[in-house]
Amino acid sequence: MTVSTVIVTGGASGVGRALVKRLLDDGMTVITCDIDESGLKSLAEEHHGRPLETHVCDVASHDDCDAFMDRVIAAHPEVDGLVNNAGLYLGQPVWEYDDQTIDRVIGVNVKGPVWLSRRFAGHLLPAERRGAIVNLASVAGEVGSSDALYGTVKAGVIGLTKSNAMNFAPYIRVNVVSPGLIVNTAIADRIPGYRYAEYKRQEQLDGDILPEYVADVCAYLLSDASRTLTGALLRADNGCYPR
Ligand SMILES: NC(=O)c1ccc[n+]([C@@H]2O[C@H](COP(=O)([O-])OP(=O)(O)OC[C@H]3O[C@@H](n4cnc5c(N)ncnc54)[C@H](O)[C@@H]3O)[C@@H](O)[C@H]2O)c1
Repeated sequence: MTVSTVIVTGGASGVGRALVKRLLDDGMTVITCDIDESGLKSLAEEHHGRPLETHVCDVASHDDCDAFMDRVIAAHPEVDGLVNNAGLYLGQPVWEYDDQTIDRVIGVNVKGPVWLSRRFAGHLLPAERRGAIVNLASVAGEVGSSDALYGTVKAGVIGLTKSNAMNFAPYIRVNVVSPGLIVNTAIADRIPGYRYAEYKRQEQLDGDILPEYVADVCAYLLSDASRTLTGALLRADNGCYPR
């Protein structure tokens, strides 16, 4: 079943913004949330007249996630897709993290997807309705990162994906995309220069990984074409760090 109404977190920029466009182009209704109010405003203007809803929501806040899902479910009971895309990468060494920042990185990258996935599945499963969840991890979650917290949370996202694939079967497929270095994103701008060069050197394919290319993989995982996949990790990484 190809989904019809999709929640995309972090739609104001980067992969999320490209995915919102791709899903609208594919004829879907899209509901997105972000903490970046002005980014959401320009997104809404860009897609004026199309079936797009934007909400301000901090996915690291349980209350925000609940209020957001209440509004989505009330207005769009047919919702059948969720993309946990919002992410936070600070690009700092582990010894520079204070406890509050550790909590923030875990909150955005792991707790948000846990809360949103649970609410989404809690809405669909009692009615035995089918749907799809796509999570955004990273090569960092597979091979490690110079930012230990980021490596930790992205490995967590992979674990969450496999676990929820089991928990939400057979009705909701849950898969994860693991991108390499995505150019033209705020996250790429924060990667230390020497790591940026290492990523590029490791890539086996030429050309940059654009947000739109990662959105293509997400769109595939939301579509019928990936009907046999659940608990799967698909890469969008130009073959970097073969593993
Ligand atoms: N850019 C890369 O090189 C790269 C590589 C691998 C994986 N990823 C992952 O891909 C996903 C998308 O990244 P991107 O490159 O598009 O990043 P980005 O920074 O361009 O976009 C992330 C979006 O998430 C939003 N966001 C951040 N914290 C939020 C919060 N608490 N609540 C709601 N929204 C919030 C931001 O405002 C932003 O609009 C992330 O999960 C990221 O970790 C990115």
